[in-house]
Amino acid sequence: MHTQDIITTAKALVAEGKGIIAMDESNATCNKRFAVLGIPQTEEARRTYRELIVSTPGLNECISGAILCDETIRQKKNDGTPFAKAIADCGIILGIKVDGGTKDMEGYPGEKITEGLDGLSDRLMEYSKMGARFAKWRAVFVIGDSIPSDGCIMANAIALAQYASLCQHVGLVPIVEPEVLMNGDHNMHRCLAETDKVLQKVFNQLKLQRVILEGIILKPNMVLPGLDSHRQETIEEVADATVKCLLRNVPAEVPGIAFLSGGQPSVLASARLNAMNAQFKSRLPWELTFSFSRAIQQPALDIWQGKESQVVAAQQTLYHRALCNSAARSGKYIAEMEKA
Ligand code: 13P
Repeated sequence: MHTQDIITTAKALVAEGKGIIAMDESNATCNKRFAVLGIPQTEEARRTYRELIVSTPGLNECISGAILCDETIRQKKNDGTPFAKAIADCGIILGIKVDGGTKDMEGYPGEKITEGLDGLSDRLMEYSKMGARFAKWRAVFVIGDSIPSDGCIMANAIALAQYASLCQHVGLVPIVEPEVLMNGDHNMHRCLAETDKVLQKVFNQLKLQRVILEGIILKPNMVLPGLDSHRQETIEEVADATVKCLLRNVPAEVPGIAFLSGGQPSVLASARLNAMNAQFKSRLPWELTFSFSRAIQQPALDIWQGKESQVVAAQQTLYHRALCNSAARSGKYIAEMEKA
């Protein structure tokens, strides 16, 4: 066990003013986002895009860690520098997505189970030798008629805890990501109740499996109304419900909570994170930060569109989103920043 190392890494991931960039989209998901913009869906296009991200000037001022997928961690920049080295050289901690994706859960219509525990120890050791210091595993929960079920929540919570325990044994900080999806017409109170249930079971399992809570990062959804809910709560109401839910379920030993964005518009995701820190920061036992993919990358991707001539503008946009989210870490994000 590498207790002190993982505690130190976990704290560094949620250092003041910093958050995590998730750039670990599977090839299929990345291709889907490229297809919308007419960008070729090739390994080289994905490599070029990831080089744009990691070469963004100043990114390390706001970003503590970057989560890569298996393809990217094995790729190099144009000049031959492995991405793993380029990221570490600019002071960003290297992370890796290690789950095998979600699939339909047999016997549980409409629900998903995350795969990837088979052979996980060996893969974790390989990634650790490649320089990774933290990992990510995502479980998803759909809100619908009588779902998420206890069986689905429990199966995913057990897998998350097994993954977390294996990570800590090889010295990697596990990012534990149970995501209650935004899709649906449910209201915010339903999301609050389901997120409560999920987090309670996840922490029960983490404790049962003797995971060191000081050496994990929780990556949850914010508590939000469904995308199709007729009532969309205010930023303050979302901040209030989310913090209330986390205080009920997340032990004080956990050093930090880094939200996924889940498909929220970029500006709204920053504003909601900001509201939580502005209202509650001084009373919280853990750091509240971001581990966004879409909410930090999408505006840059929209500008890049696969064109060399757009790289600088895309990087400036990525840096700007990182800066806005960094400000939201301390409740200092203001709408005027969007005009910059
Ligand atoms: P989003 O921020 O786009 O939800 O992605 C976060 C993530 O890492 C999903 O696993």
